[in-house]
Amino acid sequence: MSVSVLSPVSVDVTLQALLKPKDGSAPAKGRACNSRLAEGPWVFDAMPAGYGPGASEEDVIPADTPHQGVLPQEYRTASAEELDLRIRAAKAALGERAVVMGHFYQRDEVIKYADFVGDSFQLAQAAKTRPKAEAIVFCGVHFMAETSDMLSGAHQSVILPNLAAGCSMADMADLDSVTECWEQLEEIYSQVGGTAPNSEGKAPVIPVTYMNSSAALKGFCGEHGGIVCTSSNAAKVLEWAFERGERVLFFPDQHLGRNTAKKMGIPLEQMPTWNPNKPLGGNTAAGLQSAKVLLWHGFCSVHKRFSVEQIEQARREFPGVRVIVHPECPMEVVDAADASGSTDYIVKAIAAAPSGSTFAIGTEVNLVTRLAGQYPQHTIFCLDPVICPCSTMYRIHPGYLAWVLESLEKGVVLNRIKVAEDVAVPARVALERMLALKPTVARA
Ligand code: 13P
Ligand code: SF4
Repeated sequence: MSVSVLSPVSVDVTLQALLKPKDGSAPAKGRACNSRLAEGPWVFDAMPAGYGPGASEEDVIPADTPHQGVLPQEYRTASAEELDLRIRAAKAALGERAVVMGHFYQRDEVIKYADFVGDSFQLAQAAKTRPKAEAIVFCGVHFMAETSDMLSGAHQSVILPNLAAGCSMADMADLDSVTECWEQLEEIYSQVGGTAPNSEGKAPVIPVTYMNSSAALKGFCGEHGGIVCTSSNAAKVLEWAFERGERVLFFPDQHLGRNTAKKMGIPLEQMPTWNPNKPLGGNTAAGLQSAKVLLWHGFCSVHKRFSVEQIEQARREFPGVRVIVHPECPMEVVDAADASGSTDYIVKAIAAAPSGSTFAIGTEVNLVTRLAGQYPQHTIFCLDPVICPCSTMYRIHPGYLAWVLESLEKGVVLNRIKVAEDVAVPARVALERMLALKPTVARA
C-alpha cells in the first residue's frame, strides 16, 4: 500500500468520512484497522473486557483491568455541538478549581479543551503549576493519571474520564511476575559474587521501569534501588543505573530498552529478553550472568505496526523525506529511520525544520495528523498507511469529559485515580530519582 498523506483534519473526522460516508457510498474499510473506530467508545464499555478497537485490540487484557461503567445516555446521544457548549460552560464555572491535561495522542476533539498538552512526563508534573486546582482531569491513560496523583498535592484529585483508558504495554508487566523474575535473578547472581554490592559498590542488577507501568512497579523500583525513565530520558537513566549496578532489568518495553542500550554501545548478545512465562525468562544461567540489560518482553502495539518496508516506501515516494520514529518502535525500524525520539522530540524537530520539509513519522496517528495541520508549510504523514490509533487513548471522548466536568461542578468527583500511600511512597522515590536527573516543564 502506498503512503497516505492524510488531510490535516482530525483523525475522528477522517474515520467518520471513511467508515460512515454521508453520500451512501461503501465504507473504505481497508483504510482503518477496525471499522468500529467510527463508533463512540461507550459501545465498548458495555462489552466484555477488551482494549477496544485500534492498535491493541488483539492484546491480552489482564483480568483485573479497570472497567468503565455505563456513560449516562445524555452524554452518549449529545451532538458534538451540545457537548462543546456543555464542556465550555462547566470549565468556565469551575474556573481554576479544575485543570484539564491532554496527552499528545488524544483526539483533537478532546485536546481542544486541554489547559496543558504534552508527553507523559511533562503532564505528570504539570499539576504542580496549578496548586489551586482541586481536580486534575487527565485526558490520557491510567499510568499517567496514577503518576499525576503521586506527584500532585494531597488536596488534588486526579480524574480519568474513562476508566477503560489503560495501556496494553503497561499491562504486560505486573508486580507478581516482576517479583518472581527478581527472585530468580537473585538466585542466579548469588552464584557469581552474591547479591550484595561488589567491591566497586555496584549491585548485581538495578530495576528500571518505563513510565508506562503501574504505580506498583514504580514502587518496586523505589524499594530495590531502581528508577523510572521516559522515552525522553532513557539514556540518562541507564547511565545512572550503570553507575550503581552491573546490569539493568528493564521493563515493560523491550524496544525502548534495546534501542537505548544499543545506542550506548551495549552488544545485542548482552541484551536477552525475559519472558515471564518461561523458566529463567527463557534464558540460561550463563546467559543471564553475562547479560548487561535484561529486556522484559513487553511492547506497544501502536509502535509495533511500523516497519522498514514502510520507511522504504516513503523514501521511494518522497525522495529527501526525513523519517522520525518513536523509540518504542522495533530496532530495525529505529535503525532505518533518520532519527528517533520521544513525542516531545518529534514535536520540536518539526517545529524547528525549514519551511517545505517532508516528514514521515512513526508514532500515534492523532499526534501526526495534528502536526500536519499545525505546520501546513511542511508535508507530514504517518508511516503507517492504515489508520490505527492507540485503542486506549481512543477510549476518552468529549462525552466522558462533559460527564466528569459537569459532575465536578455539582461537587461530585467521578473516576478518581488514587494510589494507595504504601505504594505511592516507594514509587515517589523512583520518580524523584528520575526527576533529579532532568527536570522538564509542560507547554501551556
Ligand atoms: P510519551 O512520549 O508521552 O512518553 O509517549 C509515549 C507513549 O506511548 C505514551 O503512552
Ligand atoms: Fe500504551 Fe502504546 Fe497506547 Fe502509549 S501508545 S498508551 S504505550 S498502548
